[in-house]
Amino acid sequence: MALIHVENLRKVYRIDQEKVVALNRINLSVESGEICCILGTSGSGKSTLLNIMAGLEKPSKGRVMIDGVDVTALSEKDLALFRQKNVGFVFQSYNLMPTLTAVENVAMPLMFRGMNKEERNREAVKMLRAVSLGERLLHKPTQMSGGQQQRVGIARAFVAHPKIIFADEPTGNLDTKTTKEVMEIMVGMARKHNETLILVTHDKDIARYADRIVTVVDGNVKGDCINQSIVPAAQQSQPEKAALAGGKVS
Ligand SMILES: Nc1ncnc2c1ncn2[C@@H]1O[C@H](COP(=O)(O)OP(=O)(O)O)[C@@H](O)[C@H]1O
Ligand SMILES: [Mg+2]
Repeated sequence: MALIHVENLRKVYRIDQEKVVALNRINLSVESGEICCILGTSGSGKSTLLNIMAGLEKPSKGRVMIDGVDVTALSEKDLALFRQKNVGFVFQSYNLMPTLTAVENVAMPLMFRGMNKEERNREAVKMLRAVSLGERLLHKPTQMSGGQQQRVGIARAFVAHPKIIFADEPTGNLDTKTTKEVMEIMVGMARKHNETLILVTHDKDIARYADRIVTVVDGNVKGDCINQSIVPAAQQSQPEKAALAGGKVS
């Protein structure tokens, strides 16, 4: 059975008399361990879909089942618990706590796992080393580059080994070179731990890191394909790159 089932999901926003159909009717299943990209232009409904899947927002219609639990039916309190236990997030703007060090930021999700401070810090340090930040353990967010902050964000998302990691435009604020580094670290970490990663992006180059690419257009799934070019873009030869650039993603 798939880990995530999205069934007939619909989201309509109302502002005064205006109606915005952010999601029309989405059906989607994601297997455990899959690295699934949701690809679409700005305004296509990607973030709305991710937020509802992650239990951050309620749909207008339909439901999301995660590991047999209907997350769309949970109360706010149960949702908060569900997220703590099952979900990790990587944000475009990192969302680190500015007053906390890298270690303290990464240790945060372990607060709910019944570990003492020493154990939490030990795990956080291990994760920071895994994202090559062993030399920045006591740095605060403002003392780090964007790429370093996002590596802290990745360490924080994976530290508690949640069932699913949701990443919404995780490299949206980074330059090309840093994007490649961050994507390789994030995808490498997901593969190593056989974790499910839902990656939202508008960028086809980033979609190439996923096993599967689901294309969203105007709140509908318009394409769903196994990625034939899982090689990171930068490792491809020039002719290969050119061929892919001309090829259709969906
Ligand atoms: N809180 C909101 N209130 C009203 N409209 C919204 C809200 N959030 C998103 N929308 C609208 O829903 C559509 C999809 O938005 P979003 O999911 O953010 O797209 P994407 O992440 O693909 O750029 C857009 O037209 C957007 O303006
Ligand atoms: Mg978005």
